[in-house]
Amino acid sequence: MAKLRTQVGIIGAGPAGLTLAHLLHLQGIESIVLERHSREYVETRVRAGVLEQGTVDILCNSGVGERLKREGLQHQGVELRFDGKGHRIDFQELVGKSITVYAQQEVVKDLIAARVGYNAPIYFEAEALRVDDYDAEPKIHYQHNGEAHEIHCDFIAGCDGFHGICRLAIPAGQIQFHERHYPFAWLGILAHVPPASHELIYNYHERGFALLSMRSPEISRLYLQCASDENIENWSDDRIWAELGTRMATREGFALKDGPIFQKGITPMRSFVAEPMQFGKLFLLGDAAHIVPPTGAKGLNLAVADVRVLTRGLVEFYQRADRAALQRYTERCLRRVWKCQRFSWWMTSMLHRFPDEDSFSHQLHLAELDYVTSSRAASATLAENYVGLPFDTPGLF
Ligand code: FAD
Ligand code: DHB
Repeated sequence: MAKLRTQVGIIGAGPAGLTLAHLLHLQGIESIVLERHSREYVETRVRAGVLEQGTVDILCNSGVGERLKREGLQHQGVELRFDGKGHRIDFQELVGKSITVYAQQEVVKDLIAARVGYNAPIYFEAEALRVDDYDAEPKIHYQHNGEAHEIHCDFIAGCDGFHGICRLAIPAGQIQFHERHYPFAWLGILAHVPPASHELIYNYHERGFALLSMRSPEISRLYLQCASDENIENWSDDRIWAELGTRMATREGFALKDGPIFQKGITPMRSFVAEPMQFGKLFLLGDAAHIVPPTGAKGLNLAVADVRVLTRGLVEFYQRADRAALQRYTERCLRRVWKCQRFSWWMTSMLHRFPDEDSFSHQLHLAELDYVTSSRAASATLAENYVGLPFDTPGLF
């Protein structure tokens, strides 16, 4: 059995774990990253696509944004489509910011390449089995190549996603969960077809929500609201395109071109917050601590926001022996988390059809969308949240 020693033991090589490891490295703080899947698996896992400007700035200012700057698609607005009409929300004009469409797995690839490039430890197919003694002398027990190993560290960063072990290690009386489930899911596809619009379209329709997004000028990413217990086997490519067409091609002159679908999957929708996010020397970050429904495109961005807060706390601890910022970790993260929960819940409620909705609730959806797209104040509120609220505290990058 190998016994390793590091300053910060990081569990999970998703956006949270990899960004944290990278920012700590730049500050001269050592870490070891453990990831239970293979490198290829995490580099090809299809998930998010929308980066807030603050996320882009952190990646670019920390030296991993070269490809993102070259290949990312910068968008100055989005369209909200309902009742046969499209309405553009112009981020640039309303709040002077933009978003960037760049796939999560590309961010992951860039961060792994950087870490491998400067030879810092990252172990794939290394599964953390247990965390111990996180109040005093934290240890991570993990398995790699069929053997048991241990990491002794000053701090543990639980970046192991919603199904990870870190949150589960906390005794029931010390952690509280705030949760909401939605009675629907998203069916998402990637297709080899040029996007039918150069900006995202969020589409409300009586048959349910639909979203047009993209990954490149040749690849479209599209989502459809479906039942939460939907079986993907029931959705042939023809049925997916027909349903997308019915929901989206409501605006005159808009045609949705179909093409070969090369990836499809179903994503459940939930809102979830764990409180607190710190237990002695164990910190939860990203999806390990909170989940938002995808409609506001906030999950990855919130993970990076947590990383920013923890990095600052760890730098103050190691450089000035000051624990104050670490002790405020939960409070600082949750302030942003709850505002993003509110925004994601609001976008989800406005744009989806709930079971048993009647003509009254349909008219309320339409009235809300009409208000949001015709009032400058309401459009600016949507834009301000979508591009990413400003950070409350100064960052390092
Ligand atoms: P994860 O990405 O889940 O990473 C956790 C890692 O930990 C995984 O690699 C896992 O294998 C590893 N792990 C787990 N347990 C262990 C263990 N015991 N030992 C070792 N490793 C372990 N967010 C946005 O911001 N914008 C969007 O546009 C957006 N769209 C989305 C669309 C879809 C369809 C989905 C599913 C999500 C979307 N999200 C979006 C959310 C976003 O993908 C997540 O919030 C993000 O992945 C969170 O990153 P993370 O690092 O916290 O967790
Ligand atoms: C994408 C995902 C989202 O959740 C969203 O709100 C917008 C775009 C995407 O994968 O491109």
